[in-house]
Amino acid sequence: MEVLSVASEVYPLIKTGGLADVVGALPAALAQNGVSMRTLLPGYPAVTAKLGAAREVHHFDDLFGVTGRLLAGRVDGMDLIVLDAPVLYDRPGNPYVGPEGWDWPDNWKRFAALSWVASELGLGLVEGYKPQVIHAHDWQAGLVPAYVKYGPSSTLKTVMTVHNMAFQGTYGYDIFPQLRLPQHAFSVEGVEYYGGVGYLKAGVECADVVTTVSPTYAAEIRTPAFGMGLDGLLNNRSETVFGVLNGIDMEAWNPATDMSLKSTYTANSLMGRNANKAAIQEAFGLEPSTGPLFAVVSRLTWQKGIDLLVNTIDLLVEGGGQLAVLGSGEAELENAVRGAAMRHPGRVGLVTGYNEQLSHLVQGGADVMVVPSRFEPCGLTQLYALRYGCIPLVSRVGGLNDTVIDANVAALQAEVATGVQFAPPSEDALANAIRRTLALFADDKTWKKMQRRGMKSDVSWETSAARYAELYASLIGLKRDDTADD
Ligand code: ADP
Ligand code: GLC
Repeated sequence: MEVLSVASEVYPLIKTGGLADVVGALPAALAQNGVSMRTLLPGYPAVTAKLGAAREVHHFDDLFGVTGRLLAGRVDGMDLIVLDAPVLYDRPGNPYVGPEGWDWPDNWKRFAALSWVASELGLGLVEGYKPQVIHAHDWQAGLVPAYVKYGPSSTLKTVMTVHNMAFQGTYGYDIFPQLRLPQHAFSVEGVEYYGGVGYLKAGVECADVVTTVSPTYAAEIRTPAFGMGLDGLLNNRSETVFGVLNGIDMEAWNPATDMSLKSTYTANSLMGRNANKAAIQEAFGLEPSTGPLFAVVSRLTWQKGIDLLVNTIDLLVEGGGQLAVLGSGEAELENAVRGAAMRHPGRVGLVTGYNEQLSHLVQGGADVMVVPSRFEPCGLTQLYALRYGCIPLVSRVGGLNDTVIDANVAALQAEVATGVQFAPPSEDALANAIRRTLALFADDKTWKKMQRRGMKSDVSWETSAARYAELYASLIGLKRDDTADD
């Protein structure tokens, strides 16, 4: 099966969040399921720099009013097709916002161009290459299913994966005439959304299949509280909406071989984590301590519930804990964490900015990974935590609900607990969860058992990659060997 994946982020070329990890891991995971996957992404400076020697496979004289070309190359075992259009993508820093922190005003055009090019590739733009399925990720690729639906009739199929309902790419009607779509695409069955244009809405409406990144989130987004305006639409097509849980790259995230760690370790040599803990304490300006080290590796935003944690820090410190926060995001939240660090010198530390290496060290040495999200489509940090023997303390939403088994009495007795969950996402519930975690940490035998159990839990792509392959196969009318039982 030949599948074209389309996204705005791909690890290790460009990453602002979990989307990049997922899009970067999928091709290798799917190769084992008979899927050949190429990935189309914009030619941001970081991307073209890493692409190195690449072949030009197409030239555009008029790509939404600018020139551009398609470059094909291989990076880290991935087959990439890069849309090199300097006027649109050759900008420093974050892929979505300018230096002042505002969205680039032409984002509608930057991602319409990406999606349009994907659909053209699907129609055979480049000789010798014709994908059967286009897999579009998030709003930046949301117009792909619309271009396919309103394009020349073809057998091309589309899958739309929603990684986060909170980002939808909505614009006024004024951009519509420039989108290269027929007038009738501006309708409820097309791209129209509350009188304007909705990129994610278009994808969710027009794709053959819609997936999201965990079964719980797939159910949650059918409700007004989580659907963010698209719940009605998702309910209408609920037969073709699926939750497929994310996995992680088991090689890039392996505590036995991770070069970012001070000391590597396995489930049988957890002592190796102590050196990492000491290194974290040094990096975050914390005093040496054997008390429980809580950590956060996250975008600092409302979604992530960082404000809830800020208001429970005193309790955490009074209980003998320390807190290391690695993240960046909303200034108000950064300042709140900084304020807590000043109130509790040596006990609370903040490192701002994006630091991939440090994120690995934190997983490899902290005792608890706190993820108090208000909503979480899947979440990857708790999966990395499980793999690294760092106990996840999470709110019971989305993928956090699907991947962590709460240490309640029954789960402890049955010896299946892998972390601590709390609900609802409120300060009181989080405070209780912190108290429970402190008590669990004090019981060294139970704690170590939980660590080892987490390290053994399956966070790989195995099951989910097979599920995607099965979805592609069903779309193109193939029957997968392993499912052909009739
Ligand atoms: P989201 O995509 O909503 O931000 P995920 O948990 O799915 O949440 O993915 C977040 C990814 O970004 C993880 O790989 C995490 O390790 C990484 N990450 C978040 N903040 C930082 C940071 N400040 N430095 C390094 N990595 C970070
Ligand atoms: C989004 C979600 C996160 C998910 C990631 C990858 O950024 O916020 O929960 O893990 O996409 O699917």
